[in-house]
Amino acid sequence: MRIGVLASGRGSNLQAIIDAIEKRTLDAILAVVISNKAEAPALERARSYGTPAVFLDPKTTADREAYDRIILEQLRRYDVELVALAGYMKIVTSVLIEAYANRIMNIHPSLLPAFPGLAAQKQALDWGVKVSGCTVHFVTEGVDAGPIIRQAALPILEEDTEETLAARILVEEHRIYPQALQLFAEKRLTVEGRKVRIRENKSPHGASLLASDS
Ligand code: GAR
Repeated sequence: MRIGVLASGRGSNLQAIIDAIEKRTLDAILAVVISNKAEAPALERARSYGTPAVFLDPKTTADREAYDRIILEQLRRYDVELVALAGYMKIVTSVLIEAYANRIMNIHPSLLPAFPGLAAQKQALDWGVKVSGCTVHFVTEGVDAGPIIRQAALPILEEDTEETLAARILVEEHRIYPQALQLFAEKRLTVEGRKVRIRENKSPHGASLLASDS
């Protein structure tokens, strides 16, 4: 499976994907990393790994749709089959969503549908919830609203700050994002309306690369 990653920043989720490919718990090829930020550390991580790293400047296009058309050109150029948003801080338009229907995943640092959008960890703390976590979902139109593939939950501690909570959630993100991608690679995901069905891995030959299917 050829993955294309879109990232705007630090790229720790991108790194988790690279590490999973290297450890062979994710059976995929990182085909290209694209960023809307020239200075995104994610681009540097891609280069170090030997993956094409492409900066596309949003200022050169008239609107979001036109920008997504130039992204689409790159995704096709690198034969990308699945798009993984990893800290990609731009709204994805119908141009990409229709071209890659049910083939774009995103990771979000809350238990969706709670706290979509920006600063999800701060939203959770401000609301006073006792449990938070992260969600991997397919991307549809509507921010952070697509069918859910995998979630991990963790307790919010009395002493948590936005930073400590974000750091603990990030550990879970790095665990479940490669798992969700591997489920896709194993063709075990089916979208039925809002629900993502995960097929059990019953094949005696094709033992899952997932350490745990739980
Ligand atoms: C991650 O926490 C990711 O869940 C979040 O941005 C961070 C990116 O970190 N994404 C969103 O909030 C998207 N709505 P990274 O660049 O180190 O992977």
